Amino acid sequence: MLTSCTNAIILTVNGDEHMLVVEPNELLINVLRNELGLTGSKYGCGTGQCGACTVLIDGEPALACVTLAVACDGKEIVTIEGIARPDGGLHPIQEEFLGENAVQCGFCTPGMILMAGDLLKRNPHPTEPEIRHHIKGNICRCTGYNGIVRAIQHAAARMAEPAAADGPDLVKEAR
Ligand code: FES
Ligand code: FES
Repeated sequence: MLTSCTNAIILTVNGDEHMLVVEPNELLINVLRNELGLTGSKYGCGTGQCGACTVLIDGEPALACVTLAVACDGKEIVTIEGIARPDGGLHPIQEEFLGENAVQCGFCTPGMILMAGDLLKRNPHPTEPEIRHHIKGNICRCTGYNGIVRAIQHAAARMAEPAAADGPDLVKEAR
């Protein structure tokens, strides 16, 4: 029920529209995880310092732990659950993370992958320093940075191939 303290908002999350009633101080990460059941986005530091909660809002990376849900009214949000292929298969960036053993505990992985997609949208052929710079706000507590960088390099090479119709859908989503 809508009270004087709550707000009705509409979020489009991974292509699905949701009408929600939220408190004025409700965080986007809690709406995604607790109300929509999208637990891929992680709650790490809660203070905007680790990147574990990264999502795309209207195509731009954002930290869901410091974003109010009401501020997202009418916006399009993409979480890690939204980048799979239509047949449910993994996105090429996800496949490369697995191939390079860039996933250890996996806590940083959703945010890393969304940031990787954002980078490849802006710069399809990033250098290693450019990759490291772009993911500098995403902390991997398992310190698996070398594998993560290699995975992004491999994904970049794969997604740059003309025949790679296997899915820069994350890149398209972010446009
Ligand atoms: S949980 Fe959002 S930046 Fe750490
Ligand atoms: S794989 Fe564990 S935090 Fe990155």
